[in-house]
Amino acid sequence: MKKYLVIGNPIEHSLSPILHNYWIKENEINAIYEKKKLEEHEFDDLILNIKNKKIDGINITVPFKKKIIPYLDKLSDEASKTQSVNTVYLDKGKIIGHNTDIIGFEIGLKKTNHNIKDKKILILGAGGVVSSIIYAVKKMKASEIIVSNRTQSKAENLKKIFSDLKIAKWGEVPDFDVVVNATSIGLNVKDIIDLDFSKIGKNKLFFDVIYNPKETNFLKIGKKLGNITENGKLMFIYQASAAFEIWHGVKPKINDDIIKLLDL
Ligand code: ATR
Repeated sequence: MKKYLVIGNPIEHSLSPILHNYWIKENEINAIYEKKKLEEHEFDDLILNIKNKKIDGINITVPFKKKIIPYLDKLSDEASKTQSVNTVYLDKGKIIGHNTDIIGFEIGLKKTNHNIKDKKILILGAGGVVSSIIYAVKKMKASEIIVSNRTQSKAENLKKIFSDLKIAKWGEVPDFDVVVNATSIGLNVKDIIDLDFSKIGKNKLFFDVIYNPKETNFLKIGKKLGNITENGKLMFIYQASAAFEIWHGVKPKINDDIIKLLDL
């Protein structure tokens, strides 16, 4: 039986096993997908297990998407350009790191029917997933990308990868067409982003990377002010689907049952 893992710390919240095991069963694949809380000092063992084919693939989540890189043999173009890996597999004896968050965000956003070509994008946060979001919106030809993060130096660091990035001070809300919450604010239902969106007008897109809870206060506020809102569920499903396809060579079905499966 093949074995797959999602690793992170914390990891309890991860819904990846539910999704992957559903698709594994549906496609009659002899495999299992589990979650595992890991410490960085356990990476060497983990990699050895992939080389020995005891583990056939891993997904990586917070806080390891960058930290895993030195342990890998090769990065895909997307993983290398974002310095972020969420999917690992063995290919001809080499351990490959890939990034499916980009395609997840791209499809998740496209499903909202928002065309972001020539649009201004404001990204809140500068954590693990932000380089993938920047990469995706650049690919979709956004005209301007502004990042705002509480710790400004982390936003400035992203300019090393994306030199044309603009930075806004945390607390300022510059004009935008699409705002993406990529902070962890909202994971707890009571969390509130301390930003004033009341002057930005209506009909913008508020996109939250968080999908559990379904509607964060960020989305609630966006909606109340007359904007369109979307949570991160489709992004999550499509990043998982891209990883599944890499590992199993099958494109898994995405339908209402899948979407309901993740309703908590
Ligand atoms: P990491 O930063 O380890 O990659 P993450 O979950 O990917 O972890 O990122 C958390 C993001 O949420 C960061 O951008 C963080 O801002 P800092 O870089 O200043 O820590 C942001 N964040 C978390 N709590 C926040 C809060 N109360 N106010 C503003 N930003 C917050």
